[in-house]
Amino acid sequence: MIIVGPADDFNRDLASKIGASLVDMQRRVFPDGELCPRIKIKEEDQLKGEEVILSLRMPSKSCNPNSYLIEVLLTIRNLREHMGASNIQVIMPYFPYARQDNIFRPGEPLSAKYVANLLEEAGAERVYAVTVHLHRVGSFPGLFQKAQGVNVSGFPSLAQVLKRMDLVNPYIIAPDEEALVWAKEVAEYLGTDDYTAFIKERDVETGEIKTTIKEIDVKGRDAVVIDDIVSTGGTMANAVRAVKEMGARKVYSAFVHPVLVGNALDRIIGAGANEIIAADTLIWEGSKASVVDQLAEEIKGK
Ligand code: R5P
Repeated sequence: MIIVGPADDFNRDLASKIGASLVDMQRRVFPDGELCPRIKIKEEDQLKGEEVILSLRMPSKSCNPNSYLIEVLLTIRNLREHMGASNIQVIMPYFPYARQDNIFRPGEPLSAKYVANLLEEAGAERVYAVTVHLHRVGSFPGLFQKAQGVNVSGFPSLAQVLKRMDLVNPYIIAPDEEALVWAKEVAEYLGTDDYTAFIKERDVETGEIKTTIKEIDVKGRDAVVIDDIVSTGGTMANAVRAVKEMGARKVYSAFVHPVLVGNALDRIIGAGANEIIAADTLIWEGSKASVVDQLAEEIKGK
């Protein structure tokens, strides 16, 4: 088994945990934005007949899901058509376009499904992703027709870090009702029954967020606001501000995918977050939790 992907800590750790070797990649971007992702092979036939796992993460902050997707698709085709890899699996810890898993307004595309189909048409036989944001379609595997989709939870990695922090009488808060299931999971891990969800409405035209707050007894306690994705930071910041105003001692902002567009981080800190705990599903130097263990377990179990 060979992992193909940038030789960073994430891929080195994964390779060592699954007993694979690692072939580095060069992410070359031309001045006009076109990409030339190069697999740094020493011999022309180095990957011929090999089982390959392509492991690529999207950069946080400066992220561009479209470039990321093209990079993944070009590399899968290259592995299949020119490198002669025998079996191609792909790790995309943050699966882009997952939030468009429904046609919300007439004329919109069903992007989550189309992206899955592009990957399998390119030659991916299995796709691993972490906490895929699917609320309208049943499951991640259900997006694919030929390939196998594997959805790995990123919340255990956050919970493990939180557990080590000796939180004071923690209260776990989901910033919207979709996140309640994750708040419950983390609350169980931390051994508390205190978790709840606020209610969020987003204007589909403007993207503006309105959060309806529920009064909770967090005075003098540590509050953990938990979500899957932080993109603009609006959802998280609203919830953080509310629990801070209700008298929480410290507020921890915990999320799996640090997409962090623009000033998202400043918004969350400005709202009163004392600490940010995010997983390493995107390339971000501030990540304190790692999903490598969970991915390695899944890969070894297949
Ligand atoms: C959506 O429901 C997700 O779970 C997140 O709450 C959302 O993507 C966060 O977006 P933003 O950071 O832009 O508010």
